Amino acid sequence: MKKQSKTALISGITGQDGSYLAEFLLAKGYKVHGIVRRSSTFNTSRIDSLSKHKAAGRLVLHYGDLGDAASLDAIFMNVRPDEIYNLGAQSHVRISFDISEYTSDVVGLGTLRMLEAMRKHCPKAKFYQASSSEMFGDVLENPQTERTPLNAQSPYAIAKVFAHETARRYRDAYGLFVSCGILFNHESPRRGENFVTRKITMGVANIAAGLQKELRLGNLEALRDWGYAPEYCEAMWLMLQHKNPDDFVIATKETHSVREFVEIAFKAVGINIKWRGRGVRERGFDAKTNKVLVVIDSKYFRPNEVNYLRGDFSKAKKVLGWKPRTKFKGLVSIMLDADRKLLKD
Ligand code: NAP
Ligand code: GDD
Repeated sequence: MKKQSKTALISGITGQDGSYLAEFLLAKGYKVHGIVRRSSTFNTSRIDSLSKHKAAGRLVLHYGDLGDAASLDAIFMNVRPDEIYNLGAQSHVRISFDISEYTSDVVGLGTLRMLEAMRKHCPKAKFYQASSSEMFGDVLENPQTERTPLNAQSPYAIAKVFAHETARRYRDAYGLFVSCGILFNHESPRRGENFVTRKITMGVANIAAGLQKELRLGNLEALRDWGYAPEYCEAMWLMLQHKNPDDFVIATKETHSVREFVEIAFKAVGINIKWRGRGVRERGFDAKTNKVLVVIDSKYFRPNEVNYLRGDFSKAKKVLGWKPRTKFKGLVSIMLDADRKLLKD
């Protein structure tokens, strides 16, 4: 008898992680359903390359919104997935200060709505919750593990704490299979253009091609544990294949500053950056030509900053057999090469 393929439902399928995860699951033979929110222009560019799977009925998109319980209820009733990946979010930390109520609703209550729909329609399914290292905020321990106390600093992080704790309590209270991946920053050529890594690689590619004068950035001292998104999406799947639901930190255990990211990206196009000045007056110059290439703009500062993140992924390594493969310099070069290639295409 032919083995029935598994069905996965992904919220946030049009995002960076959703697109990699959809590809990964389709390659494994899953039937993939994705929740797409309505927007006035098409928002499916990251998954357009999967159109052949759509035509074959292996990828099905549904209009829905994490802010709309009725839409989620109808999708769950219709799909009854085996695995659910809750990746949908207003995921930009600085913007969460501008649209705090919306962020709390989508990120926090949106997760509750997803869990309720699962409890009602497919309680035997497995649920992945996209938790975040931002929950550690002003960190109380270094490096951060699954047991490090949470100390959220932004509306986004507070909403993620609500979602994380709700997911964990639904696991205990109702015996649901719910696993939380506490993922540290992960990047790729598909990263949104207003996150710092992609902003830098696009800016450097443009500057090298003579299409942009300077890069305007905020806090250069922030330290992040940056990994490569496709590897992190594989970890999400591994969590749901494990026999018990649990929480896992996914990280590289290395930390680097925004400043280092800038310097390495410019170096890759043959430019050495020299810094002069302090605070908002600091500038990054081309050491050869003396041209100003990096300017500090206070509009990119946050009311509360997260200064330092570094994750300990030992539990994921031991229990899931997962470890990061791409190192910091490799990540910068993957992203920069992709952005330079985009300019040539
Ligand atoms: P992303 O690129 O910003 O994607 C977010 C996705 O959520 C997009 O598909 C977006 O749709 C969708 N979405 C936004 N609002 C929605 C709503 N109201 N209803 C339904 N869907 C909605 O984020 P990502 O980097 O892929 O991250 C995936 C998840 O992991 C997010 O929950 C994020 O908070 C979390 N996370 C990310 C990182 C990281 O470093 N990337 C680290 C830890 C945790 P549109 O395409 O229409 O905008
Ligand atoms: N976005 C942005 N733009 N950040 C800047 C800039 C700028 O021009 N200049 C400096 N930064 C600094 C920010 O202040 C922050 O300290 C750091 O760069 C990283 O910012 P982001 O790339 O926006 O990511 P994030 O760390 O705030 O949040 C991302 O990672 C989280 C996991 O730790 C997002 O993907 C979140 O959704 C995710 O949960």
